[in-house]
Amino acid sequence: MLVYAGSSHPTLVDAVCAKLGCAPGRVRRVRFSNDCIKVQIEDAVRDADAFVVQTGAPPLSDHLVELFILLDALRAASARRITVALPYYPYVRSDKKDEPGVSITARLVADLLAASGADRVLLLDLHAPQVQGFFRIPADHGTAVPLLAEAVRQVVPLDRLTVVAPDAGAAKLAERYAKLLGAEIAILEKARSGDDERARAIRMVGDIAGRDALVVDDEVSTGGTLVEAVDLLHARGARKVFASIVHGCLVGPALERLSASRLERLITTDTLPPKLHPKVHTVTVAPLLAELIARIHRGASIDDLWV
Ligand code: R5P
Repeated sequence: MLVYAGSSHPTLVDAVCAKLGCAPGRVRRVRFSNDCIKVQIEDAVRDADAFVVQTGAPPLSDHLVELFILLDALRAASARRITVALPYYPYVRSDKKDEPGVSITARLVADLLAASGADRVLLLDLHAPQVQGFFRIPADHGTAVPLLAEAVRQVVPLDRLTVVAPDAGAAKLAERYAKLLGAEIAILEKARSGDDERARAIRMVGDIAGRDALVVDDEVSTGGTLVEAVDLLHARGARKVFASIVHGCLVGPALERLSASRLERLITTDTLPPKLHPKVHTVTVAPLLAELIARIHRGASIDDLWV
């Protein structure tokens, strides 16, 4: 078994390899002055069970192209099986044709991964679980929610807790947390116009007055959805508002928005390189990824990891 790191998140791969008791595979990278990338595998990979970990961090296009080239290089070097682990799936929100003339880019990425040499993929907490079906190769879809729920138990008082979905799409996720934490549920209605990155929370189903809130979501990107939810929950009488969100993209104005908001704490994971901020508490997915990789390698079931 060999585990390779793309350039997007080498520290995560170091931690995964430390858990697995192996060193990351050796890769030489060159970027030529015409911007072409060369990737050279420096191990003997003939007949190896190779894993490549690349996450959807910026610069996203560079990381994607590097991944395609790395897969092609592994295939050309006769790796027996190549599994790509994508802790945060690139273009995951481009998962439907919601406007005329747009690409379903999450499906295109799936096609390109298979065309580049991936034999199977390992995904974590997709924005829409249906994205798993974009793959014709085997795709395992895992979740860091139990890990996050465990961290929530340490940080958030549970006695008067309501789990809040910041939009209808997060309702199932909220149910899952509510079951794990024995909490109640509320759902917000969110509006976003076109490509506008600032979402608006406009309505709420459920009661939050005098209670603590835990906003749950698959990702926090610019932080707009989250801070809108925090404002609305406070306006409806919430005591304290926390958040538990798997993918901490935290791009653009996100960190400033967190600083300015009344959010107590954001609990997230390192599926993307973690951002340092006093309100951000990061839980590592390295042991989970290591366990998944080890099980895939030996052909063992992974389902009991999230029941
Ligand atoms: C979208 O529906 C997702 O689940 C998140 O709510 C969204 O990606 C958050 O984006 P932002 O932080 O930019 O509002």
